[in-house]
This record gives sequence, structure tokens and C-alpha cells, in this order.
Amino acid sequence: VLPDLRKEYSPDLIVANGENSAGGLGIDPRCADEIWAAGVDVISSGNHIWKKKTLLPYLEQHEDKLIRPYNFPPSAPGRGWTLWKSHSGYSVAILNLQGRVFMTDLIDCPFRALDDLLAGEAGQADYIFLDFHAEATSEKIALAKYADGRIQMMVGTHTHVQTADERVLANGTAYITDAGMCGPAEGVIGVRADSIVDRFINARPTQFELAKGPAIVNAVFFEVNEQKEILRIERIRREFTP
Ligand SMILES: [Fe+2]
Repeated sequence: VLPDLRKEYSPDLIVANGENSAGGLGIDPRCADEIWAAGVDVISSGNHIWKKKTLLPYLEQHEDKLIRPYNFPPSAPGRGWTLWKSHSGYSVAILNLQGRVFMTDLIDCPFRALDDLLAGEAGQADYIFLDFHAEATSEKIALAKYADGRIQMMVGTHTHVQTADERVLANGTAYITDAGMCGPAEGVIGVRADSIVDRFINARPTQFELAKGPAIVNAVFFEVNEQKEILRIERIRREFTP
């Protein structure tokens, strides 16, 4: 789908959250290579970045284009942001943070982590994009309000379900609560429905298996001018049968 979207939108930069590209759980080197080969420039991630041990050296070797949430302890491998430079000379800082509500609360505060990032080299970029990987809509909207006017673009990820609240906030930051996922359209957020229904009915763990059938690609397109004003924020949804 990505080559078609590229033709249609002509983006300068493509960012994809790849944290569950390895069969629905985690990301491994082969998946990262496939995502880059498809035309993605930078891969962000989230809570499942640590699932595949084979990825850890990759995080170190490819930290310019594969990032993990910044607010993990400093001992974590990899980096929490990267700087992408366009052919025409402008730069975009791509930041990755993870929420704490209904997720692990062992990581650092994402609000203070954002301050920390913007006070440093990332804050010097021409444009700033944030992937906030979080469960609670409230935490995502709160961070968006906190970031408003200090960054240009923010997407939430992690819930797999695209929200319809894309907008430009009062101080100019373009925001959507969740970009949605790329994966099986049927099932329960990508997993075979019968096993998940069974889990709810019986309150016991079940096997997670990817749902079959049609697939969806969810994405968000941003257009920003040289004055850092948002010209467009658009939800994208494509369905196809693999
Ligand atoms: Fe996640």
C-alpha cells in the first residue's frame, strides 16, 4: 500500500510504528528491514520493543532510524529520538514517548521527558514530530495540550484503533489521539476473535494468533509549511485483501 500512498501524497518523510510487526508481537531485524525496504524512513516503537532479543543489537546499530520510547531508564539500549534531514536541508526531530496509565508505571514521567527532549538537541530541529505510545485517551490528550505550540505534529499509537479527532490545537500543534494500526481488519485489534472472546468469557489466557482475511492500513498525513503552520492533517484508511 505504501508505494500507492507515496504517489498520492508525495510525503518527504514516512514514520511507522513497528513495535508489533513480528507476527503481531514485537519487532525483529527482518521486520525492520522489510519496513525500511517498503519506503519507511524512521521506525518508532513502544512497550513491545523489548519482546525480541534479536532486536537489541539492531537498536544500537540503527539508532538513526529505529527508536524506542525515550522515557525508559537510561540503561535501556537504543535511543528515544532521532534527527531526520531532508534533501533540501530542513530537519525533523522524531520523538518517541510511552504513557504510564494502564501500562507500566516504572518508566519516567512522559511530560517531564518531553521537556527534557525539547530543552536539548531535539528542540533545535526545524520541525518536531512525536509518537506518544499510550493506552489512555486522557493521557494522550493531556500530553498534546502540554506539547501544544512547542511541537508541530503528534500522533498517539498503541490502541490499534484510529480515532476521528484529528485537529490543530489552539497553539498550532496538529494532533490525533490514535493513528490506528496496519494489520488484520477482522478479529480483535488484529488477533483472532474467537480466542479473545474465549479469554473474556473464561477469564483464562488463550493463544494469540493473528486474524486472517482482509487487512487495513491506517495512517495520518501532515502537511506543514516553512512557517511551521499546519496546512493539513488527514486520516488515511485503506482496506485490501493480502
Ligand atoms: Fe503498544
